[in-house]
Amino acid sequence: MTQAATMKHLLGIKGLSEESMRLIFQTADNFKQLLNSPVKKTPSLRDITVANLFFENSTRTRVSFELAEKRLSADVLNFSSSSSSVKKGETLIDTVNNILSMKVDMIVMRHPAPGACLFLARHVNAQIINAGDGTHEHPTQALLDAFSIREKLGDVAGKKVVIVGDILHSRVALSNIFCLKALGAEVMVCGPPTLIPRYISNLGIKVEHNLEKALNWCDVANMLRIQLERQDIQYFPSLREYSMQYGLSMDVLNRLNKEIVVMHPGPINRGVEISSEVADSSHSIILQQVENGVAVRMAVLYLLAQYRLQGNTTA
Ligand code: CP
Repeated sequence: MTQAATMKHLLGIKGLSEESMRLIFQTADNFKQLLNSPVKKTPSLRDITVANLFFENSTRTRVSFELAEKRLSADVLNFSSSSSSVKKGETLIDTVNNILSMKVDMIVMRHPAPGACLFLARHVNAQIINAGDGTHEHPTQALLDAFSIREKLGDVAGKKVVIVGDILHSRVALSNIFCLKALGAEVMVCGPPTLIPRYISNLGIKVEHNLEKALNWCDVANMLRIQLERQDIQYFPSLREYSMQYGLSMDVLNRLNKEIVVMHPGPINRGVEISSEVADSSHSIILQQVENGVAVRMAVLYLLAQYRLQGNTTA
């Protein structure tokens, strides 16, 4: 029995085995086929109720999870903190326990606090999927990114992937590093020294501050957004200066002596970390990433549901 088939929660990529990731990808392959068929829907989660709890803004992840749950025939409940009794001082545990008392089985949660999903998993009786916890992890983003590389280049093993930008505040970077390393890729991070945490080289990855050198090294460049909303001090002189040093333009791509695949988890700041011309070009697989997100999230939900169907309780 594989680890993923008995997985109770998905709190992060750290600790998830390569075997589990490959099982998620094989399951996602089947769901992607289904999504491209006229039917698009399966009754696999017919008896499961999922609550999507978003304490932070989201477009892609929230819509993608909701669609994945509906394609699997789950009952779906959407909760947004901005219009809830959280505003009246209710705690996270009280909020979630009230929702669970209405017979909810799984919680998909995005929260600004790193570790919020682990905290919840320890204190409530439900299966938890981390949809992004502050600057910590965004496991389904990393899985859909790796799935998209596998789809585009045949395999992740042996590929060179550079993650460019605001590594310091990025949950996508950390989850991608764990995921890509486990699958046998070589990983580099690139950005200004102020946006690269000092501990990062301890994770067995390369660090490069020159964008053109990084791009000449890689097969895939994953461009990250500058997360101004998480920055309490100024980490670089101006967005214009950042863009001149680390923005991916067609001029920069044309100066490379090879073709590379361009990725971005979204939301994009056009003209800052990536030009419109590059984002909309044939180099970019940004919309394929979004498309693959639904199949990958279906796979995660489906495999977590197996834990319950095998007679395990969530207590
Ligand atoms: N990639 C990502 O997490 O996008 P959202 O913030 O829109 O969900």
